[in-house]
Amino acid sequence: MIVADEAKSVETALANGGTLLKPEAFEDWQKGAQSVWAENSRRFLGPSVDWEREVLVTSGATEALADTFLALLQPGDEVILIEPVYDAYATLIRRAGGHVVPIRLSPPDWAIDPERLRAAVTNRTRLIVVNTPMNPIGKIFTAEERQLIADIAIKHDLVIVADEVYEHLVFDDRPVHSFFGLDAIRDRVVRIGSAGKSFSLTGWKVGYVTAEAHLLQPIARAHQFVTFTTPPALQSAVAVGLNLPDSYFLNLRKTLANRRDLLVSGLRQAGFGG
Ligand SMILES: Cc1ncc(COP(=O)(O)O)c(C=O)c1O
Repeated sequence: MIVADEAKSVETALANGGTLLKPEAFEDWQKGAQSVWAENSRRFLGPSVDWEREVLVTSGATEALADTFLALLQPGDEVILIEPVYDAYATLIRRAGGHVVPIRLSPPDWAIDPERLRAAVTNRTRLIVVNTPMNPIGKIFTAEERQLIADIAIKHDLVIVADEVYEHLVFDDRPVHSFFGLDAIRDRVVRIGSAGKSFSLTGWKVGYVTAEAHLLQPIARAHQFVTFTTPPALQSAVAVGLNLPDSYFLNLRKTLANRRDLLVSGLRQAGFGG
């Protein structure tokens, strides 16, 4: 049982002094969570990640997003948001001095209109935020859409903030893709993950940022003055989860896909949908 294993690990970490910021212990915990996250990314998404230079552990994906906007935006910079979106983005962008430029997708196919996306870019655009799989509509960006976003980012020298917290909520044997896995844009992607989503532990608030060092360094500096660190005992416990065998992650998908099917059939019986 994942929660039981992780809870035990919190207990052990606390018994070993995990309530304190002792430099020597701190390095071990940091190494634990960062290196295990790098290995987990490699296992499920392919790209190799340098855990010492390219990974930062944060207090949830929300803090990771806040650190990213605080670090990368100057007052007046524009950020393209592909809507509908997780509600924290716009507020955090505005607090960091940025200006939100929304592009709203529409049902039934929720596809990106390439012309609208190109037209949204100005000489003030600095970031494009992409959430895939996407909350709240469950959209997964197609290969063509990923390529379109990558091409625009390269052409206009933009950074892509890839919120991939739902990386394991991909159903029906569809593959998982990460923007960080596209070689041509590896140097302009800030990838965000969340233990809360991968282990159904939202209240723990442990997230991760993966980015090349030139992007990660300013984000780590912002993190230092937002929370300074993420509770070490929780980092240790999340490392236990990230090291679980593939079967855990496959079962998570299966369980959630079953719940999706149940919900869909209930909605159909209630008269919604075709
Ligand atoms: C798309 C998206 N990103 C980030 C988050 C925040 O994750 P965390 O709980 O790790 O802060 C959420 C939470 O609902 C979300 O839906």
